[in-house]
Amino acid sequence: MEINGLKLKNGLMLAPMAGVTDMAFRALCAEFGAEYCITEMISAKAVCFGDKKTAALARPAEGERVAIQIFGSEPYYMAKAAAELLKYAPVAIDINMGCPVPKCVKSGEGSALMKNPELCGRIVAEVKSAVNVPVGVKMRTGFDDAHKNALEVAKRVEDAGAAYVCVHGRTRAQMYSGCAERDTLKSVKAALSIPVIGNGDIKCGADAVSMVAETGCDAVAVGRGAMGRPWMFAELAAVIEGREYIPTTAEEKYAAVAKHIRAAVANKGAHVAIPELRKHLAWYSKGLYGSAALRNRVTSVCTEREALDVAEAMFFPEKAE
Ligand SMILES: Cc1cc2nc3c(=O)[nH]c(=O)nc-3n(C[C@H](O)[C@H](O)[C@H](O)COP(=O)(O)O)c2cc1C
Repeated sequence: MEINGLKLKNGLMLAPMAGVTDMAFRALCAEFGAEYCITEMISAKAVCFGDKKTAALARPAEGERVAIQIFGSEPYYMAKAAAELLKYAPVAIDINMGCPVPKCVKSGEGSALMKNPELCGRIVAEVKSAVNVPVGVKMRTGFDDAHKNALEVAKRVEDAGAAYVCVHGRTRAQMYSGCAERDTLKSVKAALSIPVIGNGDIKCGADAVSMVAETGCDAVAVGRGAMGRPWMFAELAAVIEGREYIPTTAEEKYAAVAKHIRAAVANKGAHVAIPELRKHLAWYSKGLYGSAALRNRVTSVCTEREALDVAEAMFFPEKAE
């Protein structure tokens, strides 16, 4: 599949995650093989009202071709924000129709949009008419079990001019519980002419391969599986390409985490980056030797140097002893 000249050879996408997929983390995932990355979700209204902090979330890394995700419920503000964000030269605009958090849903945003397929279509049409880049949609299978209407919403947005849809195999009511299902994704793929991206619970190469085989989807999006494991994309790429996967070494992992720390501090300043990095460091430490003790150390990290030291202790425990 191809989006605005960006070729997804292996169909590997990093799913957008608020508070996670910032510039520094996206760059790492791209290095390991993520071919299509999307920013954290960005409030359309906040962009329209000139909130600088919000707009900063849309800033790409140097040379990065990234899609910008916006959320909101009013076609006018969605289109206005999308046009405003073109200054960051996004590869595409992605529209959030899947966010389950109560604050979003109460305002009729995110997954609440799926309750109104006509509005979903109107938002895509208006955004599309305001920008000269493709417009994609990220959605769930429906709002709840009684309203599993991904197929209807997907058709609406396709008719309105969407370039692709990415479907997470859960309803809003499920939040992140249980297992993501694939039957709905399969039916969406069968009914649409535009590319369909499958999302939900991809944690290893075999999951990506079975997602494509079972649904026919054109690409897969990985969210939580990449937290603390950006190197997972190297495994996915190898498996998809039918190559032997040579596991990322401790040296390579440390180099990646050190790069993450340095880039986050350079991009945001230590006062913002360090508190955010603590959660990444905790994810990086998962499953490692002495991870409980490492997580304790992570909570008290206050400087770039301390973050780098903890990272070193994670991947070279013998040096720390
Ligand atoms: C911490 C977190 C933040 C998320 N933020 C967003 C977001 O900003 N926009 C969006 O469309 N989906 C968001 N999602 C949903 C993910 O993109 C993805 O659809 C979901 O996690 C299922 O995929 P996974 O099983 O691979 O994690 C978020 C998920 C998590 C866990």
